[in-house]
Amino acid sequence: MPRGRGEREDGETHMGLLKLVQVLSFLVVFVAGVIIGLATSSHITTYFSSQAQLFSTSTATSFRVSSTKANCSQTSCQKLDCLSMDTFLHPTNLTHKMSDAELFWRASMTPYKNEYPFLRVPKVAFMFLTRGPLPMLPLWERFFKGHESYFSIYLHTPPAFHVNVSSHSPFYARQIPSQHVEWGTVSLADAERRLLANALLDFSNERFVLLSESCIPVYNFPTVYKYLIGSTYSFVESYDEPSRYGRGRYNRKMLPDIKLYQWRKGSQWFEMHRSVAIYIISDTKYYALFKKYCRPACYPDEHYIPTFLNMFHGSLNANRSVTWVDWSMGGPHPAMHEGANITEGFIQAIRNNGTLCSYNEEQTSVCYLFARKFAPSALEPLLNLSLTVMEF
Ligand SMILES: *[C@@H]1O[C@H](CO)[C@@H](O)[C@H](O)[C@H]1NC(C)=O
Ligand SMILES: *[C@@H]1O[C@H](CO)[C@@H](O)[C@H](O)[C@H]1NC(C)=O
Ligand SMILES: *[C@@H]1O[C@H](CO)[C@@H](O)[C@H](O)[C@H]1NC(C)=O
Ligand SMILES: *[C@@H]1O[C@H](CO)[C@@H](O)[C@H](O)[C@H]1NC(C)=O
Ligand SMILES: *[C@@H]1O[C@H](CO)[C@@H](O)[C@H](O)[C@H]1NC(C)=O
Ligand SMILES: *[C@@H]1O[C@H](CO)[C@@H](O)[C@H](O)[C@H]1NC(C)=O
Ligand SMILES: *[C@@H]1O[C@H](CO)[C@@H](O)[C@H](O)[C@H]1NC(C)=O
Repeated sequence: MPRGRGEREDGETHMGLLKLVQVLSFLVVFVAGVIIGLATSSHITTYFSSQAQLFSTSTATSFRVSSTKANCSQTSCQKLDCLSMDTFLHPTNLTHKMSDAELFWRASMTPYKNEYPFLRVPKVAFMFLTRGPLPMLPLWERFFKGHESYFSIYLHTPPAFHVNVSSHSPFYARQIPSQHVEWGTVSLADAERRLLANALLDFSNERFVLLSESCIPVYNFPTVYKYLIGSTYSFVESYDEPSRYGRGRYNRKMLPDIKLYQWRKGSQWFEMHRSVAIYIISDTKYYALFKKYCRPACYPDEHYIPTFLNMFHGSLNANRSVTWVDWSMGGPHPAMHEGANITEGFIQAIRNNGTLCSYNEEQTSVCYLFARKFAPSALEPLLNLSLTVMEF
C-alpha cells in the first residue's frame, strides 16, 4: 500500500509534459486490460458452468442412491408422509430390519424437551417372552378388553413361529423381529433387551413388564394400570444371596468393574419404568462383562439387571417383583400349577396373603399383579374364576 501511494504521488509531480504519454499508455493498458478481462471472464464462465453441471449431476446421483436405500416401499413413501409424527411416536408396524445394535441405539433416544406436542396417555407395555404358543391367550384377551388406549403388547417368539390369532385380538401382528433363545444363556438376556428396545420405540410406553406364556394376571386391568403407572419405583427383584446360588456365581474376572459386594440376584420377570429401560438397553460395558464371564452355572437373566441396577440406579428400584411364583416345592424350578390346583382360595391367596408390601412410601396388601407358572390345563378353571375372583 505505501508503495502504491508513492507511485501515484510521483505521477502527480510529473504531470505537464508527460501527460499525453501517460494518457496514451493508460489507454493501452486499459484496452489490454479489457481484452484480458473479457478472455478470462469467458473462461471463468465456462469453468463455472462446467462445475455447476458436475455439481448438479452429483446431487442427482446421490438422490437416486438414497431413495433406493431408504425404500420405505417406494410407492408408499410417495403417498404416505414418512416423517409424520404418528409413525414416529407410535410405530404400528412392528416389523423392521434393524440389527440389535441399530435398534438399541435408536431406542436409547430420549426427548430433551419436557413437554409433549401431543396428548400423551402413558401406556403399559406387556412384553411376552415365549417359547411358542400362548395357552393363556383367552384369559389375557379378557383382561385387556376395553382398555385398548392404555397398553401395548410385544411378543418375542422363536424366529419361525407365527402367532395365529384373529385380527381383532390385541395380540394380532404384535410379534417383534425375534432371534433364537437358549434358556440359561446370554441369548435370553438379549431377547429381554430386544423386547425393551422395540417397546421403547413407542413414546407413550411408560412402564414395561416382562411375562412368559405361563403367566396370568391376578388383578383386573384398571388395578394393574393404576398400580404400575402410579409407582415411583420399578419392580425388579434384586437381593444379595450369600449362597453358592448367588455370590457363588460371581466371577472375579469381572473385577475391577463389578465387585462381589455389588453382585445381586433376582427373578428375570421384571417390571420397570421407561427411564430404567433406557439405562438397560444403553449399557454396553457391563453387559459385555456378563456376556463374557457369566456362563452356567451363572445365568445372566438372573444377575445382570439386578446387579446393574444395584450399582447405578438402586434408588429407582423397589427391589421386589410384582410377579408371584411358588418355590415352596423346592428344587431348581418353581412349581407348575395344573387345572386341579386352581381354586378360588388359591387365587385369593396370591392376591392377598395377609402380608403387607411397601408401595411408594406406604404399605399395601397388593403385592403381586401377575403369577406364574400355569399349565394349559389351568386355563378353563381360571376363566371360570376371572369375573368373581380377579374381577375381569
Ligand atoms: C427398492 O424397491 C425396488 C422396487 O420396489 C426394488 O427393486 C429394490 O430391490 C428395493 N431395494 C431395496 C434396497 O430394498
Ligand atoms: C410392515 O413392514 C414390513 C417391512 O418392514 C413389510 O414387509 C410389511 O408388509 C409391513 N406390514 C404392514 C401390515 O404394513
Ligand atoms: C390359524 O387359525 C385358523 C383358525 O383358528 C386356522 O383356520 C388356520 O389354519 C390357522 N393358520 C395357521 C397358519 O396355522
Ligand atoms: C433398593 O435397593 C437399593 C440398593 O440397591 C436401595 O438404594 C433402595 O433404597 C432400595 N429401594 C427401596 C424402595 O427400598
Ligand atoms: C396340584 O395338584 C396336584 C394333584 O392334586 C398335587 O399333587 C400337586 O402337589 C399340586 N401342586 C401344587 C403346586 O399345589
Ligand atoms: C405371603 O407372601 C410373602 C411374600 O411372598 C411371604 O413371605 C409370606 O410367607 C406369605 N405369607 C403367607 C401366610 O403365606
Ligand atoms: C367352568 O364353569 C362351567 C359353567 O359354570 C362348568 O360347566 C365347568 O365345569 C367349569 N370348569 C371348571 C374346570 O371348573
